[in-house]
Amino acid sequence: MAVALGIDLGTSAVKCVLNRQGSTIGSGSAGLTISSPLPGWAEQDPSDWITATENALLEAISNAGISGRHISGISLSGQMHGAVLLDSNDTVLRPAILWNDSRSTIETGSLSNHLPDIGMIAGVPPQPGFTAPKLMWLKAHEPLVFAKINKILLPKDFVTFWLTGRHVTDTSDAAGTLWLDQRKRNWSSTLCDASDVDMDWLPPLLNGFDTAGEVTSHASAALGIPKGIPVFAGGGDAAVGTISIGATTPGQSFISLGTSGQLMVVDDTYQPNPDQFVHAFCHTLPERWYRMAAMLNGARPLSWFASILNCSVPQMLEDASNANLSRIPLFLPYLTGERSPHGDPHIRASFYGIEDSTGRAEMARAVVEAIAFMMCDAKDSFGANVHMTGIIPVIGGGSRSPLILQTLATTLDQTVGRIQLGDQGAAYGAALLAEVGLHQRSQADLKGEPAFSDVYYPEKQPELFMRLEQYRALYRALKDFGKS
Ligand code: XUL
Repeated sequence: MAVALGIDLGTSAVKCVLNRQGSTIGSGSAGLTISSPLPGWAEQDPSDWITATENALLEAISNAGISGRHISGISLSGQMHGAVLLDSNDTVLRPAILWNDSRSTIETGSLSNHLPDIGMIAGVPPQPGFTAPKLMWLKAHEPLVFAKINKILLPKDFVTFWLTGRHVTDTSDAAGTLWLDQRKRNWSSTLCDASDVDMDWLPPLLNGFDTAGEVTSHASAALGIPKGIPVFAGGGDAAVGTISIGATTPGQSFISLGTSGQLMVVDDTYQPNPDQFVHAFCHTLPERWYRMAAMLNGARPLSWFASILNCSVPQMLEDASNANLSRIPLFLPYLTGERSPHGDPHIRASFYGIEDSTGRAEMARAVVEAIAFMMCDAKDSFGANVHMTGIIPVIGGGSRSPLILQTLATTLDQTVGRIQLGDQGAAYGAALLAEVGLHQRSQADLKGEPAFSDVYYPEKQPELFMRLEQYRALYRALKDFGKS
């Protein structure tokens, strides 16, 4: 009984999915927290990723009612752009700096000034969340750490290293570093030099279904899985998300609402459009790229506001559906700055229009609307270059909410659909990549028609469009304030 394991190293949890012959037989997840020692900082300890992987796998195995000994191959998906730094003994030098960390704004500016056309090579202009400016920040602020760097790994590649002892990455995760030449699908010496990074620090590049290494005896003992089974390289969570819904054909688009948010279109050529902060990135599949509006604040504002209200997200969404629709304030969702379409690390979240009568329901509804408005901005940032037709699939934790999907459909003026098991997203996509690696399916078999569990159609709600325009005006009014 050959079982493929997909691991998704997310930002708020590690998820594991077990597949047998293309069908999921069990899943598990274990939470992660973010540490923010200073404003704008976001860090995680890589050893917490390993503990969470062990716990998520235990749950998945017990859920599937199998033994870990039945697992015959593994692949991974992971939060992108983070920097894990190893010394020459492969010891982790400091906590990983994550994709939503905005400390390196000055370095981002100097990289853009030094290489004004960088977006055409790297697929997107510099932003603090990407890996290169983080290394420039380290050189300036933690020179002792910088001096010891021997390897730089992306987050999921650290888990691969723990599993196999090998340093590798894949093209889609490499794409988010600002060191990859997206057209050539190779590390760029120009980009590495611009951020003082030695190319020897960067791991070799693989396709997602290529073998990264074999499970070591140490990892085998810790996880209860066979020693020597293959681990396939996997990909960044955005690329692996496309695989999870079978969107591997050029032109297919979809929305992901996890901690971050993405609107993505699959391409078979490299199509940079750096002006609007649309990312044109290599896929983890050969001869595939994708364009992506990438928002730092996807469904994260929901869990943030629920924690402020001291209630669960479902409770908060229940409140939001009972709000007085004539008295909804505005909410800007930029808790950690924003990437697409503003490229603005300084802006922060805010409510506007709070009155005596405003209650938790109206504020919660404003948070829901902001998620839909953010996606409208994302769609507009593609301009006329993309035609979204048919039912747009939505995956990620945010897709569980009917209210969010209905608000999205109406504001985007687009039919949207919830994917069956869509909240397992990238972990399921990683399991499919493991199946390709194990020759249980071909790359061509990854293509599929999304299976929708529910579909939402646009409704007539003119006041929502009025608030969308006010939301946009509020950002324009506040964007310089954020810089002061
Ligand atoms: C993509 C991005 C997110 C992170 C975290 O550019 O920042 O997908 O990978 O999910």
